[in-house]
Amino acid sequence: MQVEQLHALKDWFNQYVKCFYHDDPDVQAGIRLKEEHTRRVCEKILRIADSLNLGTGDLYLAETIALLHDIGRFKQFALYQTFNDRRSENHALLGIRELERSGTLNTLTEEERNLLVKAIEYHNLRTLPPDLPERLSLFSKLIRDADKLDILDMFTRSLSRTHEPGQEQISGLPDTPGYSEVLIRNLMEGELCHYDDMKNLNDRKLLMLSWVYDLNFPYSFSEVTRNGYIEKIVSCLPETGDIQKVYGHLRDYITRKLAR
Ligand SMILES: [Fe+2]
Repeated sequence: MQVEQLHALKDWFNQYVKCFYHDDPDVQAGIRLKEEHTRRVCEKILRIADSLNLGTGDLYLAETIALLHDIGRFKQFALYQTFNDRRSENHALLGIRELERSGTLNTLTEEERNLLVKAIEYHNLRTLPPDLPERLSLFSKLIRDADKLDILDMFTRSLSRTHEPGQEQISGLPDTPGYSEVLIRNLMEGELCHYDDMKNLNDRKLLMLSWVYDLNFPYSFSEVTRNGYIEKIVSCLPETGDIQKVYGHLRDYITRKLAR
């Protein structure tokens, strides 16, 4: 990919998003939230890609995937006033339909287009399909890590802002005591937690911890450590033996990943 193509796609993105700007401050805040998320995911994917010494063309492609990975969020919010895919529709597929309708990907080669579309389609799956071709696997993992790092960052920031309606309203989960045992079991077995198992906000925090098991690159693990995401989440969970065990387990996992 060439830098001119990336610039043209950035221009298209800016124009496209502006169509969703709104006088209603709540709607506008939702649009801005995803615009800012996109900007940060672009920065993060470049840092991860850089740590892998990817070539310039691949850096542009990675940045393009980050730029467009959540393009469906804008129409999703306009149509349904929610970012919850379960209460609306899959935002990745909605985004791909918008991209195909616009014709904005026409300047890319077929290989680049396929990589971009598939990486977007896979970015919000619980797990990646097995046996992906090498380059598709690489770009899919890049966007998944960059996206997760930013969401972990937003989530841990929201935990420290108690005055905001924030999490309870966003997730629709009650802020009740305790947590569900099944999520603790998942975490101790090194598995991702399931959205369907979440019953309260503590479960949501446990699910976010389990994302560590779905990170792929040493850079991502070092970012989790550097920013103290695990510690920030654990400090907002009940002080029980279970949680301490989960914390130790996650720390050991990250240490092993970083030692490789
Ligand atoms: Fe997304």
